[in-house]
Amino acid sequence: MFEAIECHKCHGTEGRADGPSHPELKDEWGNPVAPANLTKRWNFRGGRSRTEIATRIANGVLGTPMPAFLEAVEKPEDIWHLTNYIVSLGPDSPQPATLVTVSSVKDAIPDDPAADFWKKITPNNILLEGQVIVDPRNFNPAIDLVSVRAVYNDKEIAFHLTWDDPSETKGDGKTTFPDAISLQFAPQQPTGTERPYFLMGDATAGVYLLRWEQGKGVSELSAHGPTKLAAIPGGEASGKAVFKNGQYALVMKRSLAATGTERPSFRPRVFTPVAFQAWEGGAGESGPKMSLTSWYYLRLEEPQSNRRFFIPPAVALLTFAVLGLIVRAARSRAVQ
Ligand code: HEC
Repeated sequence: MFEAIECHKCHGTEGRADGPSHPELKDEWGNPVAPANLTKRWNFRGGRSRTEIATRIANGVLGTPMPAFLEAVEKPEDIWHLTNYIVSLGPDSPQPATLVTVSSVKDAIPDDPAADFWKKITPNNILLEGQVIVDPRNFNPAIDLVSVRAVYNDKEIAFHLTWDDPSETKGDGKTTFPDAISLQFAPQQPTGTERPYFLMGDATAGVYLLRWEQGKGVSELSAHGPTKLAAIPGGEASGKAVFKNGQYALVMKRSLAATGTERPSFRPRVFTPVAFQAWEGGAGESGPKMSLTSWYYLRLEEPQSNRRFFIPPAVALLTFAVLGLIVRAARSRAVQ
């Protein structure tokens, strides 16, 4: 019904605000207006409960292109079917993560973001906000959530990122720019609590960026502020992105150990500061006009070892041995 009644023309096939009409929508005053991303109910202006959603579908949103559907549906209860469908499109809340856990794996890590491998890794949902500290500020950020899956093996660390973006954009360089995303680290593991300034570092302390850009791929950069970026020569990072139904999925990979002073090495069990930045180039985001987070922590979990296969049988054997001794002691006492 969602398609028959043409909700998808604005809201997109999977509800991610990427329908074919989305770039043309204007409110009553002629300002561009984005259709709601129906997979993120917590952002609904009219509320996320079933009654509130049904009211919106029935009455529309006054002053916006969101039409009233009470007359358009065949039976009034169809409004409830649509409501249930929307509720099924995404979770009730974004369930944000406080720490990014990097799981240890033994096997090779696939480059393909769509590989089944990634579905088994628990996502860490990171909330982003508009950058409003330096000009140009971003009061209406397009990207507010990135799901991060991270793994490492004995050689590499890999980040699988998914985020919603209504259009895959390379940009014309004037009003639109390439879509992009980056992970930020301190160039060297900080000792104590000192970390570079979260907004891409400053003149005294720089940051390391692992960045993907539409049309350009993955690169490693060093930054001393949001407009002072420089490519790090001899980068060893790689990656692959796919875009489908208003969502990017990206894998970025790098060696665990790094050379030079501009690139961090990753070690198990260490709490490593990490921050995130994202750009929706189709909405004119570029340079300081971005979504971002403050510092989070990343932790590579304990490396997988064979100990977990060895210890339980060893404990069992020991238990038997002790039992045997007790029985023998009891017997010899009985004989005396
Ligand atoms: C012509 C384009 C268009 C069509 C068709 C359309 N919508 Fe919308 N819809 C919008 C826009 C634009 C908004 C955002 C309004 C705003 O800014 O609050 C919206 C908002 C919504 C919201 C969220 C309201 C809130 O509380 O924030 C829901 C739910 C919704 N639409 C459901 C639907 C359903 C279900 C259909 C099909 C029956 C549909 N829409 C068809 C454009 C459309």
